[in-house]
Amino acid sequence: MPTPSLLDQPVDIEILAHPVSESDLSGLCILLRESVHAGASIGFLDPLSESDALVYWRKVALDLDGGHRLILVARDAGRIVGTAQLALESRANGRHRAEVQKVMVSTSVRRRGIASLLVSDLERRARERGVRLLVLDTSEGPGGARAFYDALGYSYVGGIPGYALDPDGAPARNAIYFKELA
Ligand SMILES: CC(C)(COP(=O)(O)OP(=O)(O)OC[C@H]1O[C@@H](n2cnc3c(N)ncnc32)[C@H](O)[C@@H]1OP(=O)(O)O)[C@@H](O)C(=O)NCCC(=O)NCCS
Repeated sequence: MPTPSLLDQPVDIEILAHPVSESDLSGLCILLRESVHAGASIGFLDPLSESDALVYWRKVALDLDGGHRLILVARDAGRIVGTAQLALESRANGRHRAEVQKVMVSTSVRRRGIASLLVSDLERRARERGVRLLVLDTSEGPGGARAFYDALGYSYVGGIPGYALDPDGAPARNAIYFKELA
């Protein structure tokens, strides 16, 4: 029986447990493929095959064992509707720093504050781990999320022309951001 949507209730934000269950891997693959298909510039070209999406999630799931990566998921009635990652720097001169990566929310539930909740939870967990500086980049093009990071108080640094291809193959400048955590 399909899970009913409970979006009139708050989503649950939690750390993705590892080893990652097959059903969570499947939910993450659906979210990633849907986001790329909708134009999100998050490291892939459209169409992204199911098998390539699975290879990606299995690879980052392995990183969870080392403790250098944190993956958060937002669930609505158990179903994954959003995710965000924190890649912790392991080199001795950069352990105060981490990168926010792969923030994405299902197209059907955007503009309801889910990504804001995910990123603020990531920030809290980053602080707890002694991280004082967050960095990230997004696309300057239609596949990017500049308005989102501006709204969350991230500072824009600049961008590199043609840094990556948007999902449709068009080269786009990236937009580099940082935030100092109090
Ligand atoms: C960017 C993304 C994660 C935002 O998710 P979301 O849950 O819809 O974001 P929120 O509802 O928390 O938005 C918070 C604020 O960001 C800004 N914002 C978010 N999406 C926006 C958009 N498409 N256009 C303009 N402003 C936007 C708004 O100020 C918004 O507040 P408001 O809705 O009260 O106006 C989502 O659009 C997405 O998954 N995009 C594709 C993936 C991607 O580009 N990720 C970023 C690269 S790592």
